[in-house]
Amino acid sequence: MIFAWPAVSFMPMPTQAITRNPLSWFFLLGLLVSGFLIWLIYYKPAATAEGDWVTYLPAANSCFNALCACCLTAGFVNIKRGNRERHMRCMLAALGFSVLFLVSYIVYHHFHGDTAFPGQGPIRLLYFFILISHIVLSIVALPLVFTTLYYAARGQFGPHKKIARFTFPIWLYVSVTGVLVFFFLRAYA
Ligand code: HEM
Repeated sequence: MIFAWPAVSFMPMPTQAITRNPLSWFFLLGLLVSGFLIWLIYYKPAATAEGDWVTYLPAANSCFNALCACCLTAGFVNIKRGNRERHMRCMLAALGFSVLFLVSYIVYHHFHGDTAFPGQGPIRLLYFFILISHIVLSIVALPLVFTTLYYAARGQFGPHKKIARFTFPIWLYVSVTGVLVFFFLRAYA
């Protein structure tokens, strides 16, 4: 039975404190990743790329986000139908697409800084509402995703279920708004 995942952790756990409170470590990791991304996008000078392949990365990022959202939805539907194994596969696939997104996003912003949104009026307000909520919730999502997976990997499905009720909608919102931000920029920039 594939679902009988051994009680292993994929994060190193050198002390009892980590076992008791993984959230604080994941929160710290989330802050570090977020700090790195802010530096990368807003402060690091853009590098020069050979060829125009970098211009295709935002579309690729948007696809990864869309695929992540599909997997999350499928994972949710599957656990509601009681199919635990499919739930696990869908959530791990969602994680895979998020990792692909993050790698591609980092590569893109290594070569390209922030993209200004030129739209004016109500559309500008809507764009910034979506963008800011997307950024804030992606910072929140990271430790939640790690913690949700941590409990699942340890077979602790009580706490997994409790925290997943926050992780699922936040992660889904971040994925969907990632796609929306791409379309806003394509339409106006
Ligand atoms: C970060 C990724 C994951 C998210 C966002 C997530 C989300 C969820 C959600 C929202 C529920 C509760 C559904 C409800 O309210 O009834 C749930 C339950 C569950 N999840 Fe996950 N899940 C994730 C990863 C996993 C993995 C990798 C496994 C497999 C090891 C797993 C196994 C389960 C099980 C067994 C339940 C049912 C718990 C119960 O009813 O007692 N989940 N998950």
